[in-house]
This record gives sequence, C-alpha cells and structure tokens, in this order.
Amino acid sequence: MGKKTGFIGLLTVTALLAVLSVPCPARVTGVCVNCHTMHNSQNNLTVSDSGSPTQALLISDCIGCHTGQNTGINEEPYVNDTNPPLYRTTGTEPDSNTLAGGNFYWVSSGLDRMGHNVEGLAVPDATLTLPPGGDGSFVGQLRCAGSMGCHGNPLEPEQIPALKGGHHYKDHSIWQDGTTLAKSYRFLDTIQGFGDRNYEYHPTDQRHNKYYGLDRSAESDQASGSISSLCARCHKYFHNGTDSIAPGSTFGSGVWIRHPTDFDMSNATSSTEYQGYNGGSGTGNPYSVISPVATADVSTTLNTTIYTRAGDAVVMCLSCHRAHGSPYTSSLRWDYKAWPAGGYNGCAVCHTSKD
Ligand code: HEC
Ligand code: HEC
Ligand code: HEC
Ligand code: HEC
Ligand code: HEC
Repeated sequence: MGKKTGFIGLLTVTALLAVLSVPCPARVTGVCVNCHTMHNSQNNLTVSDSGSPTQALLISDCIGCHTGQNTGINEEPYVNDTNPPLYRTTGTEPDSNTLAGGNFYWVSSGLDRMGHNVEGLAVPDATLTLPPGGDGSFVGQLRCAGSMGCHGNPLEPEQIPALKGGHHYKDHSIWQDGTTLAKSYRFLDTIQGFGDRNYEYHPTDQRHNKYYGLDRSAESDQASGSISSLCARCHKYFHNGTDSIAPGSTFGSGVWIRHPTDFDMSNATSSTEYQGYNGGSGTGNPYSVISPVATADVSTTLNTTIYTRAGDAVVMCLSCHRAHGSPYTSSLRWDYKAWPAGGYNGCAVCHTSKD
C-alpha cells in the first residue's frame, strides 16, 4: 500500500470510527469488547466463564454480568453479591447497598425461603417445589429469563435469546408501555412502569421506581401490564381467579380471604386507616419506599405523593415483597415474623391503626 492510499485508508478508518461512535439509541454503552467476544478466545485461551461459548458472543451470562457490589455508580444493576450485602432493616437505609429487587445473596447462601431459588444461584427450594398460589402450569426450577424465568420473552426457552432486542434498545427516558421487550419495565415482557435510573440504590420519596398497578373492581380482572400481574404468571390465585381473593361477589367491599393486590386503598371500607398512609392525612401523602404503592398513571412524572390522583394508591405484591430476595423469610421487605419483639412493622405504613 502506497503512502497516499495509506493516508486515505486512515481517513476512511477515521470516518468509519466517527460513524460508529455517533451516539445510537442503544442503552448499553462502552466498547463492544467489554461485553462481547468474537471468537471466545484470547491468546489461545477461552474467555467465557463456563469455558464454553456464550450465546450472542457474550463474555458472560445473566448472572455473571449482574453479580457484584452496588456502589451507586455501577452501570449494570447488581442483583447478586458474593459478599453479604448491607440490607439493614428495610433495604432503603442510606448505607444499604441492595437495589429495588433485593438480592439473591441470601437464597444462594442456602437460605431457601429468602428468595427465588434461581438456577445457577441456588439449589431448588426444598419446600416450595411449585410456585405457591399457582395453577400447576409452572413446573421446574426458575431461571432469570425466558419460559422458565421472569425476564424476557416468556415463549423462548433459552435465556439470552429471550432477551433479544433488550439491552441495546432500552430508552430510560420514556414510560415503559410494554409494547416491545425494550419498552417493557425492566425487560419484564408486556409489563409497564418507569424505572429509577439507579434501580433504587438509596431510594427516597423523590427518587424511586414508578410501578404500574390497576384499581380493580373484580378479581377476575387480570390487570394486564401491572407489576402484580407479572407475579400472577406463576402465583395466579394470589392475584386473580374466581373466589380466591374474596368470596362470591364481595371483591372490594372489605371481606378478603387473601391480601388484596391491584386494589386502590381509597376504596377500602375503613378509609381513615389508609388515609394515614406514611404519616399523611389523605391528600398528597408522601410516597413510602419502605412499603410502596403502584399507580394507574402512565406519565413519566414521578409519583412522589399519593392520594393526589385517581388510582394512585394501589396495593401490589411489591408493597410487601422483594422480587429477587431479602434477608427475611418469604422474601419480605422487612422482618415481619420477628415483630413486635424485634423486626419491623412495615404493615403499619398502610395499617396505621395497627402499630
Ligand atoms: C455492556 C454490555 C454490552 C456492550 C458494551 C455491547 N453489548 Fe451487544 N449485547 C449485550 C447483551 C447483554 C446482549 C444480549 C441480550 C440482549 O439482546 O439484550 C447483546 C446483544 C447484541 C447483539 C445481538 C442482539 C441484538 O440486539 O441485535 C448484537 C448484534 C450486539 N450485541 C452487538 C454489539 C456491538 C456491535 C457492540 C459495540 C458497539 C455491543 N454489542 C456492545 C451487551 C453489550
Ligand atoms: C416464572 C414464574 C414466577 C414468577 C413470574 C414469579 N414467581 Fe415467585 N416463585 C416461583 C417459584 C417456582 C417459587 C417457589 C420456588 C422458589 O422459591 O424459587 C416462587 C416462590 C416465591 C416466594 C416464596 C419464596 C420463599 O422461598 O419463601 C415469594 C414470596 C414469591 N415467589 C413472590 C413473587 C413475586 C412478588 C413475584 C412478582 C414480582 C413473583 N414471585 C413472580 C415462580 C415465580
Ligand atoms: C455482558 C453483560 C450482560 C449480560 C450477559 C446481561 N446483562 Fe443485563 N445488563 C447489563 C448492563 C450493562 C445493564 C445496564 C444497561 C443500562 O444502563 O440500561 C443491564 C441491564 C439489565 C436490566 C435492567 C434494564 C432496565 O430497565 O434498566 C435487566 C432487567 C437485565 N439487564 C437483565 C438481564 C438478564 C435477564 C440477562 C440474561 C438473559 C442479562 N441481563 C444479561 C449487562 C448484561
Ligand atoms: C400485604 C403484604 C403482602 C402482599 C401485598 C403480598 N404478600 Fe405475599 N406474603 C406476605 C407475607 C407476610 C407472607 C409470609 C407469611 C404468610 O404467608 O402469611 C407472604 C408469603 C408469600 C408467599 C409464600 C407462600 C407460602 O406458601 O409459603 C408467596 C409465594 C407470596 N407471598 C407471593 C405473593 C404474591 C405473588 C403477591 C401479589 C399477588 C403477594 N405475595 C402479595 C405479604 C404480602
Ligand atoms: C400498601 C398498603 C398495605 C400494606 C403494606 C399492607 N396492607 Fe393489609 N390491607 C391493605 C388494604 C387497602 C386492605 C383492604 C382493606 C379494605 O378493603 O377495607 C388490606 C387488608 C388487610 C387485611 C384484611 C382486612 C379485612 O378487612 O378483610 C389484613 C388482615 C391485612 N391487610 C393485614 C396486613 C398485614 C399483616 C400486612 C403486613 C405484612 C399488611 N396488611 C400490609 C393495605 C395494605
């Protein structure tokens, strides 16, 4: 190659680099090599965690990339830690280092009942061999994604393919309307919401996830798109199904046989109790990150207060639970069983006359 062509070649490469470095809508950032390997080999050594090629030429799998200790500046949300995370009393304290979903650390340390026993992190739960409240259709050990998991396309058996179209296309600035996987809240297919950019690392009433929920008038309503409807995929009768939450046609009129979810507290029969939510008086109460509520509002305006608009005080599964795991039984947000001798009464955020 002559000097001139070499220069032109350099120009072309520079131009190409310039094109490649134009910001694209992709959400994952950084050079490709941070996450991908072209031949799964470097200096003749395999680079993948498992020693076998990972799909989509990735250097690691879901668990590999999402294991670590949260510092508030890490780009990938860490949902599993190899050291004990600081959860404190409610996982929301200023020196805690878990995220909204909690952490798999405890369940992976052999504490079966402290979270979802996800394959690769924990052995199958010895007691809960099927999802409680389920209709029997989910059988086997949970995975992060796909037909055996919570994230991604539920019809795809393989995990990485189940996330296809996810990581590179996430736009955090818009309401996640669930129309595509990238536009689904936290890659939970069809689920709506608006995620905090820091995944609730040190959340406050001013900075937190906005969960989508619906005020139902009947338990047959599946409340599609709500965060609780995600849980209902496997725990169906804890959320919807004839006569499984309230007997006969009494749904919403105060007789419950399972704790209501996707139900707005403003419709409760004993209204004064719930008007005191999180120390408020029934209008513009501060949002609680200890026991959060969902909202039917689909704007990107954060719900920093509740009882401000219709359908903004919706009880959901995550009012009491962490999705991944916590240091408490049944993956609860606070230590329900140890209260009142110890533990914490998070129930009182809503049940204000029961503290
Ligand atoms: C921070 C990590 C990360 C970086 C950096 C990254 N990727 Fe990816 N990429 C992923 C993950 C995770 C997947 C698979 C899951 C998914 O599709 O969400 C993926 C999937 C892909 C896919 C197949 C699925 C699709 O969306 O079409 C292609 C092609 C791809 N990446 C190309 C690239 C290129 C080219 C670069 C550099 C410009 C790059 N990636 C940088 C994480 C990354
Ligand atoms: C894809 C199926 C699936 C989905 C979706 C799902 N779960 Fe589960 N869940 C299971 C299975 C299976 C078990 C029992 C085995 C285990 O603990 O992993 C379980 C167990 C649990 C437990 C008991 C944990 C324990 O060990 O005491 C809780 C609490 C729970 N799930 C809450 C939720 C919540 C809240 C959601 C929604 C954010 C949800 N689940 C979504 C399948 C699912
Ligand atoms: C190569 C590393 C890598 C792999 C493999 C990977 N992720 Fe991620 N993931 C990331 C990074 C980096 C981010 C943060 C991207 C951002 O800021 O939007 C992320 C973000 C996420 C998010 C949050 C999306 C949101 O709403 O902000 C979820 C959920 C997620 N990943 C799930 C998964 C699942 C499930 C798998 C396996 C099927 C997986 N990831 C595999 C690197 C990875
Ligand atoms: C008001 C708080 C609250 C809400 C809302 C709530 N749960 Fe629970 N859940 C608990 C408590 C407390 C326990 C453990 C003690 C008990 O079973 O009463 C529990 C236990 C569980 C268990 C374990 C059951 C077993 O057989 O051991 C599962 C699974 C579960 N919840 C799933 C869900 C799902 C799914 C939703 C939403 C549809 C939900 N929970 C909503 C408080 C709640
Ligand atoms: C996010 C708010 C919220 C939280 C947190 C919450 N509850 Fe509730 N709870 C409600 C609402 C709303 C009702 C329905 C009241 C009605 O219809 O009058 C309810 C109903 C109940 C009922 C049935 C009462 C009846 O009238 O049939 C019991 C029992 C109960 N909750 C216990 C608990 C316990 C125990 C906890 C903590 C583990 C808890 N709740 C946490 C909002 C909440």
